[in-house]
Amino acid sequence: MKIRFDILTAVPNFFDSPLNCSIIKKAREKQIVDIYIHDLHNFSPLKHKQIDDYPYGGAGGMVLRIEPIYNAIKTLTSKLDYDEIIYLTPDGEKFNQKMANELSLKQNFIILCGHYKGVDYRIREHLITKEISIGDYVLTGGEPAALVLIDAIVRLIPGVISDESSALTDSFQDNLLEPPIYTRPREFNGWKVPNVLLSGNEKKIFEWNLKMAIKRTKLKRPDLLNK
Ligand code: 6GU
Repeated sequence: MKIRFDILTAVPNFFDSPLNCSIIKKAREKQIVDIYIHDLHNFSPLKHKQIDDYPYGGAGGMVLRIEPIYNAIKTLTSKLDYDEIIYLTPDGEKFNQKMANELSLKQNFIILCGHYKGVDYRIREHLITKEISIGDYVLTGGEPAALVLIDAIVRLIPGVISDESSALTDSFQDNLLEPPIYTRPREFNGWKVPNVLLSGNEKKIFEWNLKMAIKRTKLKRPDLLNK
């Protein structure tokens, strides 16, 4: 199954590098995921391709105008059915692994990146199906959040990560943090890899990993253990 993302942004070149590296690049090459970047300026009806304006009511900052966003969304939805039209905003629903899992089962997404003080609220009232925040802090725009969202979803698509089981054993899939992990050499600077991991005893290794996962979760994220 293939997932398609259409990103609407005021800053298209923001995405030049990060969507063309590593695992996402390979997933795009394998056509497991299609990503299209749309510059909102191209949908502006104004002479100078302006897309923002002053807010009514005298508040500070700038707001993304309704027409470029409306035109972009209508152009896309006239050609394809979209499962979600997502607006990225710090006052959206908080993104987490469960939401990533659910979204990874859908197919076609429009992702609208907010900018400045946000978008004309009528967009949110009439066109958006889901509003998402990536955490309780404020970014200059939704673009970094779009990257976070896309990355978290794409890596869950079967065939994207080489070791398919690895996405399922991630931290958060079972509300446990990962146990410590090591590779060669066995000893560096006198710092040793725990003996049990070198023992070849699968049962002991499984038990140690589980014990350490619980211990680290208790220590760093006790809130997860109550879920
Ligand atoms: Cl989605 N956008 C912005 N601008 N800031 C954020 C965010 C999104 N999520 C957390 N902070």
